[in-house]
Amino acid sequence: MEQSIQDTEEPEHALTRTLSALDLTVFGVGVIIGTGIFVLTGAVAKQQAGPATALAFVAAGIACALAALCYAEFASTVPVAGSAYTFSYASLGELPAWIIGWDLVLEFALATAVVAVGWSGYVRSLLDNAGWHLPDALSGPDVAHGFGFDILAFLLVLLLTGILILGMKLSARVTAVVVAIKVTVVLLVIIAGSFFIDAENYHPFIPPARGTATSAGLKAPLIEVMFGYAPTSFGVQGIFTAAAVVFFAFIGFDIVATTAEETRNPQRDMPRGILGSLVICTVLYVAVSIVVTGMQKYTELSVDAPLADAFKETGHPFYAGLISFGAAIGLTTVCLILLLGQTRVFFAMSRDGLLPRVFSKVHPKYATPYRSTLVLGAVIAVVAGFTSISELAALVNIGTLFAFVVVALGVIVLRRTRPDLPRAFRAPWVPVLPIASVAASLWLMLNLPAETWVRFGVWMAIGFVVYFLYGRRHSRMGQGAGAGRS
Ligand code: ALA
Repeated sequence: MEQSIQDTEEPEHALTRTLSALDLTVFGVGVIIGTGIFVLTGAVAKQQAGPATALAFVAAGIACALAALCYAEFASTVPVAGSAYTFSYASLGELPAWIIGWDLVLEFALATAVVAVGWSGYVRSLLDNAGWHLPDALSGPDVAHGFGFDILAFLLVLLLTGILILGMKLSARVTAVVVAIKVTVVLLVIIAGSFFIDAENYHPFIPPARGTATSAGLKAPLIEVMFGYAPTSFGVQGIFTAAAVVFFAFIGFDIVATTAEETRNPQRDMPRGILGSLVICTVLYVAVSIVVTGMQKYTELSVDAPLADAFKETGHPFYAGLISFGAAIGLTTVCLILLLGQTRVFFAMSRDGLLPRVFSKVHPKYATPYRSTLVLGAVIAVVAGFTSISELAALVNIGTLFAFVVVALGVIVLRRTRPDLPRAFRAPWVPVLPIASVAASLWLMLNLPAETWVRFGVWMAIGFVVYFLYGRRHSRMGQGAGAGRS
């Protein structure tokens, strides 16, 4: 663990410390509010939970708050780049660290792609307003229903990759402005929308459970498959199915922890940044989902741009335009910060030798890990061009929840094995709180489709192969141990 902290002081492989608690909160809010609330809310209310979507946000928010307390303790104990990956390296050892790092690569890369595709949808809707229409073949697989390449999502990821290579300073400044626009738009939805609520739409608040054919077989939540329930939507179970999906809307507070190494005073600012941004977002989400399901009957909500369309449907196209515009701008930062988190995990894994060391050389002038940024940016741009949102979001969620499980376990292990380490932030009620965090994350995972579990299993299996063929032999820990023996 001391080695991890010392590494950050090697100039060739070090990032500069420029971020404050406020920067972190802005980063947090900047990445958390995104496709989850702007896009997924509509589909979830329509298909799983109705007006009770607000409760799904509360359930997912509670799971995240528990995980956030564990994350905050870890981040303030081991303030180096790489998030849950570094934390688990320090506390659980190399193999668990590899597993979690591999898992985070999946989470951040795919989440970047998902958000880029969501962004492209809003931009296309704005272009349509202006009378320009992109051909379906260039609008992505969701629109083309067959072969389609999402040219806008592809270009966005490439552009953001360039910005990241030029350095944190630029991206932090741009982020602050964009976050302000995004939060303004969300507040606009809440305040203006509350005048257009029809209380009738809240009846029934929790729609009665009903059977469904569309989520049968491998598409059904694992918990239903395991216990042989008939596939259902709505009802109380529907709230949890919805929570497992809208969990995506909270992803990102953990990314705040990946910038620990670039934070001026990580011991104090990290927990503030993480918890602060999480609380702000939870309050906004609950308010937005209550307002939107009050404006329109849940069965009529749109699934592409539900927030803007609710205003259109109630006869307020001006607000709808503003919201689409703000959403398109806001999703840009989400994408940027997810990409940043992604490159930092990759950077940390490379510095430890689990991935080739060339990826962790920082640029002589811009002091950014330009190689990993470039390679990952290019791959993600292509993925964003060819993928459809919904299935990938579930895969992102399972990967993230799995990371939360490992982090919570890590808190317990580290309290036992290294009680001596200074912890600027200590999670309360250890080990009860981390255990509750593990249970909450596992519960949400069980509510994800069985096919998501299969895909996740395949990805992890590939990770094991890479580790045993490359990482184990090249890691500095592995080589250090070898030198000691000879
Ligand atoms: N939480 C982020 C979003 O909703 C990833 O887009």
